[in-house]
Amino acid sequence: MTTETRLRIAMQKSGRLSDDTQALLKRCGLKLNVSDRRLLAHVANMPIDIMRVRSSDIPGLVMDGVCDLGIVGDNTLEETALERELMGQKSQYFKTTQLNFGGCRLSIAMPEEFNYQGIDSLNGLRFATTYPQLLNRFAKENGINIEFCLLKGSVEVAPRVGLADGICDLVSTGATLEANGLVEVEEIFRSKASLIQTATPLNSEKQSILDTLLPRIQGVMKAKE
Ligand code: PRP
Ligand code: MG
Repeated sequence: MTTETRLRIAMQKSGRLSDDTQALLKRCGLKLNVSDRRLLAHVANMPIDIMRVRSSDIPGLVMDGVCDLGIVGDNTLEETALERELMGQKSQYFKTTQLNFGGCRLSIAMPEEFNYQGIDSLNGLRFATTYPQLLNRFAKENGINIEFCLLKGSVEVAPRVGLADGICDLVSTGATLEANGLVEVEEIFRSKASLIQTATPLNSEKQSILDTLLPRIQGVMKAKE
């Protein structure tokens, strides 16, 4: 156990979940100023620090006990857990609360002209994705062999430039797929944001901060229903 007495929460610095995460923390009464470039923001009225990082780093920071809590998409969480399992690294954490924002799906999409005849028609093709582990699990479960090409963003551009036959990426409104001439053919994972907690036991100071914060988070979630 550490002697640190401020609860440390990891959140996405910028991207899909950052505005909703910030709004949630503010509605919980936390006074924080994250508009500057400081990556470790002190909450003024509670012993809490907010660490602002890339979303893909959040699960590992919580699993390794660097951060006590994290707010992250289930897609990133599951991808990291599979990746760490493969590397023989521990991936323990508690999913404390399922949050009611950040809803999206991870789907396979193909160019409009592709003649989709079911999962078997994807066999032997190459896919651009940010989520190779989740896609690989889907391929294994469905008995198909596929190739991967890792892209961290703008995945939808890959088929048009000849980098891949199809893609596997997040879909929310579907506007990005449509704008890039792609059609969703298989949904492989449904995701929302989650509040996760380190499996490392918290010291009593941190536990009591969490005991104050958690009912507030749950209250905000209930009010939004
Ligand atoms: C995300 C995601 C999809 C898109 C889905 O990308 O990777 O591309 O949003 O949203 P939609 O279905 O509402 O269009 P983002 O805009 O975050 O950019 P990036 O992939 O380049 O990081
Ligand atoms: Mg994108």
